[in-house]
Amino acid sequence: MKPQWKEQRIFLIGGPGGVGKTTVAAALGVSLALEGYKTVVLTVDPAKRLAQALGFKNFTSDLQAVSLPQQKETKLFASMLDTQRYFDKIITRFAASERQRDKILNNRLYRIMVESLGGSHEYAAMERLLEFTKDTSFEKIIVDTPPSQNALDLLNAPQKLADFMDNSVLSWFQNSKTPFSLFRQGTRMAMKVLEKLFGSDFFKALAEVMDDLEGMHKGFRDRNLEVLALLKSDTTGFFLVTYPSEIRFSESQHFIRVLKEKRIPLSGVILNRIEPAGPLRLLDSVALPKITREEIEVVLRYRAELVSQQQYWLSKFNEAAGTLSQIRLEKRTEDIHDLETLSQIGKILVS
Ligand SMILES: Nc1ncnc2c1ncn2[C@@H]1O[C@H](COP(=O)(O)OP(=O)(O)OP(=O)(O)O)[C@@H](O)[C@H]1O
Ligand SMILES: [Mg+2]
Repeated sequence: MKPQWKEQRIFLIGGPGGVGKTTVAAALGVSLALEGYKTVVLTVDPAKRLAQALGFKNFTSDLQAVSLPQQKETKLFASMLDTQRYFDKIITRFAASERQRDKILNNRLYRIMVESLGGSHEYAAMERLLEFTKDTSFEKIIVDTPPSQNALDLLNAPQKLADFMDNSVLSWFQNSKTPFSLFRQGTRMAMKVLEKLFGSDFFKALAEVMDDLEGMHKGFRDRNLEVLALLKSDTTGFFLVTYPSEIRFSESQHFIRVLKEKRIPLSGVILNRIEPAGPLRLLDSVALPKITREEIEVVLRYRAELVSQQQYWLSKFNEAAGTLSQIRLEKRTEDIHDLETLSQIGKILVS
């Protein structure tokens, strides 16, 4: 089945680190905007020159308008995910009072938790997505996702956070006002390490954060349900960006299985960085050093091996695909950071 670019509104771009998620998300944004849709790309940590192409020059605003040379009216917008800032917004939303909000935001440990809690970036991405969905003027919303060892982190993040809020050990901290005397030996040792790491007021700070987070459980749980409903909705398409190699193949198959179990439909697999067919293309712009015939042969042999490996794994992806749509993108000779190249790639995606 072909991806439903016209019908669907939300496109989640997931996959392991470095496969090209941010590039694909930006390219898709450019091409959907060129089709006339008001589009927003929620991007995560784009490379510097790509960020510049998307209008992130001075970070003056949350939402950047990106003018495309072919277009009079601006249709493309980009927003960069700032997890820390976004968590502050979430806390502000769920806090029962200004006092509770300020106490949490000023707590040093809260900052550390946001940075180190597994899944907080993914959670922030999902939160931001929910926010964009509520702005009905956006016809297409593209969500680039943070690099994750396991692409499923994205889907598990809201649940993980809700679980964290419910975690009994932490609730125990929250409820016990004088926990110190009650610690068993092992715990005390662990706490000593934590004290060393975070300073002597660690317990106090932890007890305070936990106390302050009280009452927010319901908020996080409800949001979790909302995100899950959104992920399963017909208007959402999930794309896995990957690469034709053994490790990426088995990882992708696992990912596809788990999505099925979770009843989250996958709209397509994007196989990126495929060696172009034909003879090796040399960069005109690069001044080639004097190289020997042997050296050229080594490069050619390496490339022939790479191409044959890729072809093998592409055929494996094909066999496993069934009716699942697959889109192949060639490896370009240079990094991708200009709107023109993005629109060329975008055309391939939506054609
Ligand atoms: N088809 C391609 N041909 C050549 N270079 C590519 C291609 N796709 C992506 N790149 C380059 O690969 C690098 C990594 O791409 P990108 O940042 O999109 O990956 P990512 O999956 O978002 O990485 P991360 O997981 O770190 O967020 C970038 O420099 C990008 O320009
Ligand atoms: Mg990225």
